[in-house]
Amino acid sequence: MKPAVIELREGVYWVGVKDWGRRIFDGLIPLPRGTSYNAYLVKGGTKTALVDTVNPGFEAELLAKIDAVADPAGLDYVIMNHAEPDHAGAIPTVLAAAPRARLVLTAKGADLAVRHYRVPQERMRVVKEGDTLDLGGKTLRFVDAPFLHWPETMFTYLVEDEVLFPCDFFGAHIAAGMYDEEVPDLPVRAQMYFGEIMMPFRKAGERAIEKLADLPIELIAPSHGPLWRHPERILSLYRKWTAGETLPKVVVAYVSMWGSTERLVRAAVEVLLGRGVQVAVHELAHVDVGDLAGDLVDARAIVLGAPTVLGGLHPAALSAVNLVKALKPPLRYAAVVSSYGWGGGALRQAGEILAPTGIEVVGAVEVHGAPDAEAEAQAAALAGELAGKIHSPPAPGRPTGAGV
Ligand SMILES: Cc1cc2nc3c(=O)[nH]c(=O)nc-3n(C[C@H](O)[C@H](O)[C@H](O)COP(=O)(O)O)c2cc1C
Ligand SMILES: [Fe+2]
Ligand SMILES: [Fe+2]
Repeated sequence: MKPAVIELREGVYWVGVKDWGRRIFDGLIPLPRGTSYNAYLVKGGTKTALVDTVNPGFEAELLAKIDAVADPAGLDYVIMNHAEPDHAGAIPTVLAAAPRARLVLTAKGADLAVRHYRVPQERMRVVKEGDTLDLGGKTLRFVDAPFLHWPETMFTYLVEDEVLFPCDFFGAHIAAGMYDEEVPDLPVRAQMYFGEIMMPFRKAGERAIEKLADLPIELIAPSHGPLWRHPERILSLYRKWTAGETLPKVVVAYVSMWGSTERLVRAAVEVLLGRGVQVAVHELAHVDVGDLAGDLVDARAIVLGAPTVLGGLHPAALSAVNLVKALKPPLRYAAVVSSYGWGGGALRQAGEILAPTGIEVVGAVEVHGAPDAEAEAQAAALAGELAGKIHSPPAPGRPTGAGV
């Protein structure tokens, strides 16, 4: 049987693979619906280029797909938009199969191609912003897009067909679907992906989107998930997400061993719901990091519920607070509720971790043992104060600190 190769435009083919069964990414992010590694073949009148490759383990499938439309040995260029192994892992195999091919990459990409894949210098061709490759009636132009999400990243733009290959940017982890309109919840999956991977680099994302404003784009062909046949759908979302636009929305992230912290959380949530705040609750013992990251993309505040364990935050809460700090979401406000048994320590540690983030800690409620009605009322009052702040926000876009 011939492998599935999809012609996107005349001479432009999807030669990627679907990894339906993958369930975890980066040892961190659950993939309930798998993912895809999209690679593309562009055949011009005189030269042929492969744009990105696939995850290790799928090399044979990639070569078979290329072979269905072009002789792999005749490839002239392999474009490395990004050096992470899910797109670059098959580069050694492809370069071995295509002895004439040059690996096209940024200067920083060249360094990574040596470190990760031992690519010899003479096989590389370094490109920079605005450089082009003429394939004969098909022109590839390179757009520098550093830190989306590694230092070396770039986008490739196919001028004649107005197709953008942005690698991870605009991507989503889902194996199903070839085009955006086939996956009803694709914007949600894309938001999760943005939260997990791109959110710490919002400033770099804004800069890249500004550059794209000058390019007519008919099709966005990312390297994970369906292709955006309606580019404005994802562009408009990315404009909001990179700008740090938030909704009147709270992420409630909590864990509770014996229910004390949970009772404070419940008292707070009731008030928030009553005040017209959108509430996304994540129970941290069973949290899906992708779901949590997705909700952090447009939430204005976080309520952290965390008991003390061994003088500090419960480990599940510690991990979540560290994630919040690392992902640099546009959160403006935080509130913390906690229960302790003797010396406490959860509140102190939460404060220490959140202090450098610029998120304003509106208040905290801490109860010794199980909460009584008064403690629950305090949690409710804190939630009321938070709701007031949420409904009268200052301008969007807390500084991310990611000045890259
Ligand atoms: C494994 C474990 C370790 C704990 N370590 C501490 C501690 O170091 N300091 C403290 O004040 N309380 C400690 N506690 C007590 C809890 O903070 C206390 O029981 C609290 O009410 C639990 O809240 P929860 O019902 O929301 O889980 C610990 C409890 C457990 C189960
Ligand atoms: Fe990546
Ligand atoms: Fe990727």
